[in-house]
Amino acid sequence: MSTLKTLTLVILIQCTIFTESSQQPKQKKVNGYGDNVFNVIGFGAIGDGTTDDSKGFKQAWDVACNSSAPSPTVLVPQGKTFLLQPLTLNGKLCTSNPITFQIDGRIIAPSKAGAWQCRPNCDHWISFRKCDGLLIKGSGTINGQGSNWWRLSCKNKNKACPSRKPTGFVIEDSNNVEMNGITFEDSPKMHIAFERSTLVHAANLTIKAPKNSPNTDGIHIQHSTNVSIHNSIIQTGDDCVSIGNGSKYINISNIECGPGHGISIGSLGINGKTEEVEFVHVRNVTFHGTTNGVRIKTWQGGHGHARNIKFEHIISHASTRPIIIDQYYCPHKHCRNQTSAVEISNVTYEDIQGTSSRRIAVELSCSESTPCTNIIMKDITLRYKDQNAHTSSTCLNAHGFRIGRVEPNVPCLQKHDNL
Ligand SMILES: *[C@@H]1O[C@H](CO)[C@@H](O)[C@H](O)[C@H]1NC(C)=O
Ligand SMILES: *[C@@H]1O[C@H](CO)[C@@H](O)[C@H](O)[C@H]1NC(C)=O
Ligand SMILES: *[C@@H]1O[C@H](CO)[C@@H](O)[C@H](O)[C@H]1NC(C)=O
Ligand SMILES: *[C@@H]1O[C@H](CO)[C@@H](O)[C@H](O)[C@H]1NC(C)=O
Ligand SMILES: *[C@@H]1O[C@H](CO)[C@@H](O)[C@H](O)[C@H]1NC(C)=O
Ligand SMILES: *[C@@H]1O[C@H](CO)[C@@H](O)[C@H](O)[C@H]1NC(C)=O
Ligand SMILES: *[C@@H]1O[C@H](CO)[C@@H](O)[C@H](O)[C@H]1NC(C)=O
Ligand SMILES: *[C@@H]1O[C@H](CO)[C@@H](O)[C@H](O)[C@H]1NC(C)=O
Repeated sequence: MSTLKTLTLVILIQCTIFTESSQQPKQKKVNGYGDNVFNVIGFGAIGDGTTDDSKGFKQAWDVACNSSAPSPTVLVPQGKTFLLQPLTLNGKLCTSNPITFQIDGRIIAPSKAGAWQCRPNCDHWISFRKCDGLLIKGSGTINGQGSNWWRLSCKNKNKACPSRKPTGFVIEDSNNVEMNGITFEDSPKMHIAFERSTLVHAANLTIKAPKNSPNTDGIHIQHSTNVSIHNSIIQTGDDCVSIGNGSKYINISNIECGPGHGISIGSLGINGKTEEVEFVHVRNVTFHGTTNGVRIKTWQGGHGHARNIKFEHIISHASTRPIIIDQYYCPHKHCRNQTSAVEISNVTYEDIQGTSSRRIAVELSCSESTPCTNIIMKDITLRYKDQNAHTSSTCLNAHGFRIGRVEPNVPCLQKHDNL
């Protein structure tokens, strides 16, 4: 190439860069996709697993967000690995709804906790905020590289320890969100959180982290209503699903849970707080060696309620506490007995079968001042796993009914055959 040609080319490129950066980010042509598909590769993402691709993702989102194309789709293509620093994609001012986020490739976080660009607080890794109409789907994987965080102890004021560990994937202040098919692995803390959102439907998810990874809940629901979670496999070091304050109309079904801590409502009422959860329906769930099966846990001294809850068609394979209500929840073991409690009422357990790894398969520990009421058990058979022998129950301040076969016997519930 002659010097003159090279010079002209350099000038041309520089002009192009200049004009592009002074306007909206412009998509480079990437082969094989329609005009409504915004491939992150076309917006500067590299996908080599080491370059920070956050900017490319953000630009693809911003363009899709105001695209006039029908059903705009941000594409994270398969066969590549994208490294993301903490990233928030905001849907508040988007004119094109709904937006599809198609994840077929692999997304990873920085592997060393110290390489995260979010000091001092790392609350979230990837978050979708204020979206109305969002479909997140695909065959891809989102890996939070949590192992370095799991080792960080924050108890000894370790300098390297940030004040909070990040939740992997957050949907917040959003409506009409659907998630389908994605795999989540090794989050530093919870894998997925739905916060202050309504009409969120998740299905066909796979969530995996080691059994001993701390606080790696599968999905946490907080201040959210009309949420469903279906057909998913969740194996973690904490609750498969946990349901916190302000949540109602929650359906959870067809879940394979374990290892993990089971499906939990709560903990509610820490430090005297008023917290409430209601209308939760959990059905067709299998627990594999979990520490709890279906659990409701509240701190002493709280206010509010957990009520109108149904657990049905549950199978336990050797979980430690298949059925538990714990109104004395106190993981740090320094709790005073107090007079107030989050009120637990109208909880139905129906068709719960399988084995328990502990003799006591049913534990109802309710508050003295605020007993549990209208607890209903119907068709329960839980056997002790080792000898296929009988299990037993413990009961404290729990009232309600048992219908049909209930094994172990739960004598604090009145026998009632016509409900
Ligand atoms: C989308 O358009 C709205 C309204 O025109 C504008 O306020 C907003 O900044 C745009 N968003 C992006 C990401 O460009
Ligand atoms: C889950 O995936 C299956 C198979 O890919 C699909 O048929 C089904 O519709 C999906 N479920 C939901 C609720 O989208
Ligand atoms: C929960 O299930 C009930 C009964 O199947 C259904 O009417 C309701 O719409 C579901 N709600 C959600 C949020 O999926
Ligand atoms: C949420 O679910 C409840 C009960 O099914 C229903 O009455 C309510 O209309 C739903 N809310 C929305 C926003 O769809
Ligand atoms: C719990 O949720 C309720 C209802 O959304 C709210 O009024 C209350 O302030 C929340 N409590 C706490 C401690 O955040
Ligand atoms: C229960 O869940 C399993 C998968 O965990 C599924 O194969 C089965 O069809 C579900 N049964 C019902 C009644 O939904
Ligand atoms: C008890 O809870 C169920 C949902 O599990 C609900 O359908 C029913 O209306 C509740 N009953 C009362 C008396 O609140
Ligand atoms: C608190 O109350 C429970 C139930 O009555 C009792 O078993 C426990 O010993 C009490 N703990 C203390 C510290 O008083």
